[in-house]
Amino acid sequence: MTDTLTFLGLESSCDDTAAAVVRHTPGDAPQILSSIVAGQTELHADYGGVVPEIAARAHAEKLDICVEQALLQADLTLSDLDGIAVTAGPGLIGGVVAGVMCAKGLAAGSGLPLIGVNHLAGHALTPRLTDQAPFPYLMLLVSGGHCQFLIAKGPDDFTRLGGTIDDAPGEAFDKTAKLLGLPQPGGPTVEEQAKTGDPTRFKFPRPLLDRPGCDMSFSGLKTALLRERDRLITEHGGLRRTDRADLCAGFQAAIRDVLAEKSRRALTQYMTLSPQNPTLAVAGGVAANMAIRGALETVCEEANVTFLAPPLSLCTDNAAMIAWAGIERFRTGARDDMTLQARPRWPLDQQAPAMLGSGKKGAKA
Ligand code: KG4
Ligand code: ZN
Repeated sequence: MTDTLTFLGLESSCDDTAAAVVRHTPGDAPQILSSIVAGQTELHADYGGVVPEIAARAHAEKLDICVEQALLQADLTLSDLDGIAVTAGPGLIGGVVAGVMCAKGLAAGSGLPLIGVNHLAGHALTPRLTDQAPFPYLMLLVSGGHCQFLIAKGPDDFTRLGGTIDDAPGEAFDKTAKLLGLPQPGGPTVEEQAKTGDPTRFKFPRPLLDRPGCDMSFSGLKTALLRERDRLITEHGGLRRTDRADLCAGFQAAIRDVLAEKSRRALTQYMTLSPQNPTLAVAGGVAANMAIRGALETVCEEANVTFLAPPLSLCTDNAAMIAWAGIERFRTGARDDMTLQARPRWPLDQQAPAMLGSGKKGAKA
């Protein structure tokens, strides 16, 4: 198929309502004609986490406004499109249902083809939207809800090499910030504190490094930090500025080391496929962390592998990645219809053994 395709994408699987229009002509770089993201941070601020019922209502209220804005910004109407792609899972089910219902309504009203997209495939295919990464490439998804290594071999063909068996790293950053009385989201505030801290003062564990493979665990790290915090409070009656900075630096260094070492192992497995242009791509909010990004870059340099980190707006949840994944799936002949179901759990790699419980923040796979 050589035709230009223009797709509307919808995303509503966690706490961002998003709509975007992406156009692609084979042989050219894809164009993001519009990308609207309406966050819900303030709606959930009082609850210390995303409240599924509140999220679902907000998605239902905002989806059509986002669609209208995305079309307006792209200067298009529904009749200019070739298809509608929507996140059909995994995620918080109320939000996913709201997105799927909205997409079905638009498809039924316009007669356009409907394509259900796995949210994780949206993240995992982003390096092709931003950098035309050739298959197969290695992907590290690392956010508040996800943490896994995937080999992307095709739009519907992913092999999971490993992932977290408990918390996602972003979740660990957020919990650390909470324990230290720092503002949310925790990633940027912990990173800021860590800049002036001594990463060697506290001996935090590097979980699962002693075991082979690419699985990870981050919940013990938070417990270790809690223990040190409580000890300091008992000894000094509170946390001093340097204590906080050193705790953040030690915690961040532990996460950095685990991700770097597991990336080395994942690369070794990936290289057995003899890829022509070996590439490691990252996505997810944690990829914004400069210490972690720097360590991954070094790992790639040492292994002679290209390192790709899409711009942050495309690393975090957005609908351009869903529109793009829809285009990629459409070109392989995939089509959905009015029987498309919203799925709370939907592992990308159906062959991989189930994970123990990653992504408590946003029920992922
Ligand atoms: O991808 P994302 O926007 O949403 C999902 O979780 O799906 O990622 C958000 C997560 C939050 O946990 C946030 O604390 C973390 O990414 N994060 C960071 C940084 N910026 C955001 N973690 C570490 N360092 C950062 N600079
Ligand atoms: Zn996501």
